[in-house]
Amino acid sequence: MKRVLLWILMLLALGMVALVAAGCALYSRADVNTVGELGFENELAIPPLLEPQEEDGRKVFDLTLQQGRAELLPGKPAETWGANGAYLGPTLRAERGDHVELRVRNELPETTTVHWHGMHLPGAADGGPHQPIEPGETWTPSWEVDQPAATLWYHPHPHGETADHVYRGVAGLFLLDDPETSGVALPGDYGVDDIPLIIQDKRLDDDGELDFSQGLISPTGRLGGTILVNGTSSPYVEVGDERVRFRLLNGSNARVYNVGFADDREFDLIATEGGLLETPRRMGRIQLSPGERAEIVAAFQPDEQIVLRSFEPDLGTNFWENRFTGGDDSFDLLEIRAAAGLTPSPEVPGSLAAGERYIREDATRTRSFELSGQSRINGRKMDMSRIDEIVRPGATEIWKVRNAAGIPHNFHPHGVSFAVLDYAGEEPPAHLSGLKDTVYVPPDETVSLLVRFPDYPDPASPYMFHCHMLMHEDRGMMGQFVLADQGGEDAGERSAHGQPGHNHAEDRG
Ligand code: C2O
Ligand code: CU
Ligand code: CU
Repeated sequence: MKRVLLWILMLLALGMVALVAAGCALYSRADVNTVGELGFENELAIPPLLEPQEEDGRKVFDLTLQQGRAELLPGKPAETWGANGAYLGPTLRAERGDHVELRVRNELPETTTVHWHGMHLPGAADGGPHQPIEPGETWTPSWEVDQPAATLWYHPHPHGETADHVYRGVAGLFLLDDPETSGVALPGDYGVDDIPLIIQDKRLDDDGELDFSQGLISPTGRLGGTILVNGTSSPYVEVGDERVRFRLLNGSNARVYNVGFADDREFDLIATEGGLLETPRRMGRIQLSPGERAEIVAAFQPDEQIVLRSFEPDLGTNFWENRFTGGDDSFDLLEIRAAAGLTPSPEVPGSLAAGERYIREDATRTRSFELSGQSRINGRKMDMSRIDEIVRPGATEIWKVRNAAGIPHNFHPHGVSFAVLDYAGEEPPAHLSGLKDTVYVPPDETVSLLVRFPDYPDPASPYMFHCHMLMHEDRGMMGQFVLADQGGEDAGERSAHGQPGHNHAEDRG
């Protein structure tokens, strides 16, 4: 009897040892570091500006979603998706007050959608999962641009398939200008001293094809070891101006970047997702989770070469989770090559934009959102037929978002910009001092947002709010709100498990 017990104990101990060994092996192979390893042999692609057609006072943009082959690695064409091309899409550009119309034709083999991330627009034009475009069909939303100058972007949002469609390559920038701030002396020559940088990580196989597998332990989804900037791997860019503005977009599925220069030089942060800051903020690093954008201005010396890098991000996760969510990873992103003679640029002005009206006292209601596990908000998974929140059109509200999981999440409500009131119990840091539409929520912390909703009542066209780690979104970490008059006022706190409205949205409205 004793001997049997001894054997069982021995086996258990061996099992434990094997488990720990396997854990160690997985752990030690899970980090990536490409610092100093890139040759920067490929010229950075700049997404072309798409010229709109003028039709009865509207600016009409034609986008065709299509399959193609793109050399994500030079000489190794891979099967990809894009808009008006094989990979990524053109940059759209419009001005406050413009009436825009988008003609989106789906030539992909699957039903998809195109969402205008960061745009303040009617729910029916938003391009979330309620506006599917079947293969062969064209979807034609239109709206009036009514928000400050900003760097927005577009990407697919089909229910449960967003991660896949974005990973295949459908995404692009949507730049907004505003006559009110167009006189501010900032670098603004697109592709010359105003350079977009769409940063994405990929797993590529030996043939350079997109690899759809992911690590055995990957709590936020697929992380890749190859970084593409505007679809270019190992890129360089030549600049001819003393100061250059970079519009950074984290267009990745799950990876968080902590962007700065290899020599730690400082730059000016001039804008976040919602538009220009009131005053530029000097910093050496800007951390961006998926969906976040930042505009920075950096200064260069004649003839220098300097690497833009992603340093280890601060995810706020524990030792173990940190390793499997990219917290120990660093990457060289882009080599910047300054010309021997640089055109002088004006200094970054000390004042950029008048503050927009985001006033805490205007808030008529507080709502709480708890992100848990990999798939739930307030204990529930996304349900296309359930409206989770009803908001009064034009209202200002406080949304408190808590990450109750030990892993990284972020939060993005559609159709709005917000100001961060409180970040993990503190005043928002400099990089969160401007208007935003996506924000990182560290594990076990709460972030309070002052959200201003647009005035487009339409109870049948829900907007989404969700984690922008796309695997989490697809697994259900998403909810829906509508703008409707029942949204009412409520000075009190709303419990995380309160009763939401029960009117059902038209599914394919
Ligand atoms: Cu980039 Cu639901 O959004
Ligand atoms: Cu969005
Ligand atoms: Cu998440």
